[in-house]
Amino acid sequence: MRTDYCGTLTAADMDREVQLCGWVDRRRDHGGVIFIDLRDREGIVQLVFDPDGGEHFQLAEKVRPEYVLRATGKVRARTAATVNPAMPTGEIEVFGSNLEILNTAETPPFQLDEHTTVSEEVRLKDRFLDLRREPMQRNLRLRARATAALRRHLEEQGFLDIETPLLTRATPEGARDYLVPSRTWAGQFFALPQSPQLFKQLLMVAGCDRYYQIARCFRDEDLRADRQPEFTQLDIEASFVDEQNIMAIAETTVRQLFADLLDVDLGDFPRLSHAAAMARFGTDRPDLRIPLELVDLGDLMQAVDFQVFAGPAQDPAGRVATLRIPGGAAKITRKQIDDYTDFVGNYGAKGLAYIKCNDIADLAGGLQSPIVKFLPIEVRRVLLERANAANGDLLFFGAGAARMVNESLGALRVKLGQDLNLYTCKWAPLWVVDFPMFERSGDKNGGWNAMHHPFTAPAVGIDELRAAPGQALSRAYDMVLNGTELGGGSIRIHDSAMQRAVFEILGISEAEANEKFGFLLRALRYGAPPHGGLALGLDRLLMLMAAAPSIRDLIAFPKTQSAQCLLTDAPGAVTDAQLRDLHLRRRQA
Ligand code: AMO
Ligand code: AMP
Repeated sequence: MRTDYCGTLTAADMDREVQLCGWVDRRRDHGGVIFIDLRDREGIVQLVFDPDGGEHFQLAEKVRPEYVLRATGKVRARTAATVNPAMPTGEIEVFGSNLEILNTAETPPFQLDEHTTVSEEVRLKDRFLDLRREPMQRNLRLRARATAALRRHLEEQGFLDIETPLLTRATPEGARDYLVPSRTWAGQFFALPQSPQLFKQLLMVAGCDRYYQIARCFRDEDLRADRQPEFTQLDIEASFVDEQNIMAIAETTVRQLFADLLDVDLGDFPRLSHAAAMARFGTDRPDLRIPLELVDLGDLMQAVDFQVFAGPAQDPAGRVATLRIPGGAAKITRKQIDDYTDFVGNYGAKGLAYIKCNDIADLAGGLQSPIVKFLPIEVRRVLLERANAANGDLLFFGAGAARMVNESLGALRVKLGQDLNLYTCKWAPLWVVDFPMFERSGDKNGGWNAMHHPFTAPAVGIDELRAAPGQALSRAYDMVLNGTELGGGSIRIHDSAMQRAVFEILGISEAEANEKFGFLLRALRYGAPPHGGLALGLDRLLMLMAAAPSIRDLIAFPKTQSAQCLLTDAPGAVTDAQLRDLHLRRRQA
């Protein structure tokens, strides 16, 4: 039906007769001449019909936004006054000789024009219209090009694309499962996979050596801008590898992707231990574009006559830290300090002490602060030295439970980076390594949770692990980009005794382990090779590459924050007959 895409025509096509198909983006009548912006997947071109065109001109008068047209015409140069350098096709227009209306359209519920801001709810309800918009088309294309490039790159390195089941048993990644009731097995349920974790390990036991999959994962968890209940991982696993091999494969893959698609060189990814990340940035996914760091003051504050600091300084589970904002004394007003105090309050901070460094040579009078009176002169001196403070700087303080201080100052650091535009570069990738094996589960029995997942190998032997689980590091690694966790993985346990020991520490009884993971434990007894892998969150990676505000913009048909599909109205009700087939009964309210 057509010879070209609208959006690909350029001056090189001058004088060609073209046939185009697409949607009416805009129509303008200009003193007898009608301009139609015709849009297709590749972009927009201007059609011109003049009254000499007879019936075609009359048809052109009838078209409305989103009508579907087929037009024939000759490519010609625009007049100097009408050249539009902002449009890829802005040097030319198509002088129409024939016009056909292939379909009409009702008035869309929102303007498709890229500059209008429409609520996301409206966009998601009529997603098929939303996706016609140029930025969304660009995102979908980016996604398709990325998956093609990733496949090419991994296949060149000998990775096999192997599918794993969606109807399966629970795969623990720390979220709730989506369950599917079985009709043939009364009272039994499948779970949708939270990741292909166990299957990819079984593929290593099966001798596949190098596996990858662009895998759909399902997690019933609280959603945010960078989380969806149904999302996609680039999942990889390899045998006879150590963490350096896997990190090198993943790093090259991502670096290559940025080079191919964005012409960006990410360089070598620096590595940071989990402990250093927490100490310096208060988070295990630091945004290294922001040149602010937390500095510990605990040892300095133990004896001060200010309980807000002295209490946490004396508590092994507490933390007192400062965040220095160079030049902040003048840049940040009293009102802004109040706003930042409210901001850290969201993370549980009871306040946000500060010092304005007006004259650091004058320890008695040069520091402006509601708390400086509680700090002996010597403490002031060491504090300024340690924080590396200069005149004009502002110091913020966090004190309390270490987790709260990390979360609040960590978030404040990112917020200050945004508010004051402190970014030193556009892309800051890194690896976070040396994670602890376990973290406290928070239940009253003092149990442990796996920091990554229960199949991650510890960096220590079985006896050492049993003796001090809280001290043990794991062989896990996370890839972080601009403050977002892009992916994570680990070297796995390939020894069934070690796997049992880890289950035991996690409080999973032998019976439960056999019931839930018997197949894995069995596989480990039949010659499991040393293996490891990693999964990248593809939607997140693309969100960053597209500089989109949400991963929903990179998913054709996403769910809302409350895990609904507004387009299809899923989840939806089912009939009593369906429930009966599935051996389910509605609970009386
Ligand atoms: P993990 O649970 O860290 O590891 O997940 C890997 C990556 O997947 C992305 N991700 C998500 N993206 C969107 N919405 C979500 N709800 C969501 N949850 C996770 C993140 C994350 O870094 N099986 C292991 C990997 C391994 O050990 O090989 C796993 O799934 O970018
Ligand atoms: P107060 O003694 O509660 O009036 O607090 C004195 C100063 O310490 C105020 O500037 C508070 O914002 C600040 N402050 C109070 N609690 C904390 C805390 N947990 N961490 C950091 N600063 C705090």
